[in-house]
Amino acid sequence: MLKAVILIGGPQKGTRFRPLSLDVPKPLFPVAGLPMVQHHIEACAAVPDIREVLLLGYFPAQQLHQFVTDMIAAYKIRIRYLQEYQALGTAGGIYHFRDQISSGNPDAFFVLNGDVCGDFPLQEMLDFHTSLTSPSLITIMGTEATRHQSTMYGCIVEDKETHQILHYVEKPSTFVSNLINCGVYICSPDIFKRVGEIFNSRPDFYSLEDEEGTESIRLEQDILMPIAGTGQAYVYNTDRWWSQIKTAGSAIYANRHYLQLYRTTKTDRLATNGSDKPTIIGDVYIHPSATVDPSAMLGPNVSVGKNAVIGAGVRIRESIILGNTTIQEHSCVLYTVVGWNSTVGAWTRLEGTPCDPNPNKPFAKMDNVPLFNNDGKLNPSITILGCNVTVPAEVIVLNSIVLPYKDLPHSYKNEIIL
Ligand code: GTP
Repeated sequence: MLKAVILIGGPQKGTRFRPLSLDVPKPLFPVAGLPMVQHHIEACAAVPDIREVLLLGYFPAQQLHQFVTDMIAAYKIRIRYLQEYQALGTAGGIYHFRDQISSGNPDAFFVLNGDVCGDFPLQEMLDFHTSLTSPSLITIMGTEATRHQSTMYGCIVEDKETHQILHYVEKPSTFVSNLINCGVYICSPDIFKRVGEIFNSRPDFYSLEDEEGTESIRLEQDILMPIAGTGQAYVYNTDRWWSQIKTAGSAIYANRHYLQLYRTTKTDRLATNGSDKPTIIGDVYIHPSATVDPSAMLGPNVSVGKNAVIGAGVRIRESIILGNTTIQEHSCVLYTVVGWNSTVGAWTRLEGTPCDPNPNKPFAKMDNVPLFNNDGKLNPSITILGCNVTVPAEVIVLNSIVLPYKDLPHSYKNEIIL
């Protein structure tokens, strides 16, 4: 029997995802029609040996309650939210709830970072983990990155034959290895001893406090770095699609790839063409409660949320339209996220700049570009409308970020509208 722990962080996390995380906890932001961590839960539920999924975070429990109830109904496995009393770190929360994780004596447990996305090969990783001749305390999912980008991740040096981890450095200042940590692990319950040693080596654990949160124990720096080279950590390599979701721009990228995965696994989630239906190009998700005029044209890579209304002649591409939004006739929406309850007037154009990985570089990942460049100017990004925004008819909003509850009076270009 196995369990899975999904680390979802808390309100202070996901700052680079604002304004999209202002109204909903970032892990619940919909990508390809499903809350971000539902994709993790779905991947876990597909592994027959996983009997329980524990969401670990420090969001107030009531913010997760409805989601957890919906997930239990949808996946028929045990799912619970365990709330940390404060940010305990990527290993601290696991240690704090060790009794909950160990109950029922699981052989091992998966740990998934809530802010990664991908075509997670969990069963294959488990087969690799169980086939190891010497027991692994922790097996990490690894993937290849470009030499330049690798330093923004945890870097792994492996023994190419045995896949034992020889060396691990978190975000090194110079190049160490192309093989990076995907934030997906299989841990043996013996890992608790290791984390306990760290915990007990800090006798003043509960009294230490600084802005870094010294109470926390980090899986990467405190556990992986010392275990590397001891023969107890292994890496499982994958070349399937994987990315982090840090910035709002990466939500559009993740949306596109999850929609693409539906083609093989969940075709019923993809919209199809037909008489009296809108024109669909490529992969498009439309919530069953949304109303889309048959003369609209959607796709590729568009998600339309609950009760959204898309008017006549509207064109949408590479965008996420959230619930209860109205896009009035003949508007055009490209590389944009339109927040909940927003209204876009007729003949308006919302357009952002794609921030995709460099297609000419094999293994390139999304660059999590900061909002402003070194000159204090806004970096080109997707356009984002926060929730309850009203955009009038016949304006252009280009590469702009609009905070919630704004009534835009005119057109905007390269601006943050506060
Ligand atoms: P950054 O580039 O700084 O974001 O670092 P990172 O990619 O290594 O991410 P980080 O280690 O901060 O977080 C990895 C995952 O763990 C994310 O999904 C976070 O939401 C989650 N996480 C981070 N800290 C905590 C914590 O204290 N408790 C819980 N439960 N989850 C956490």
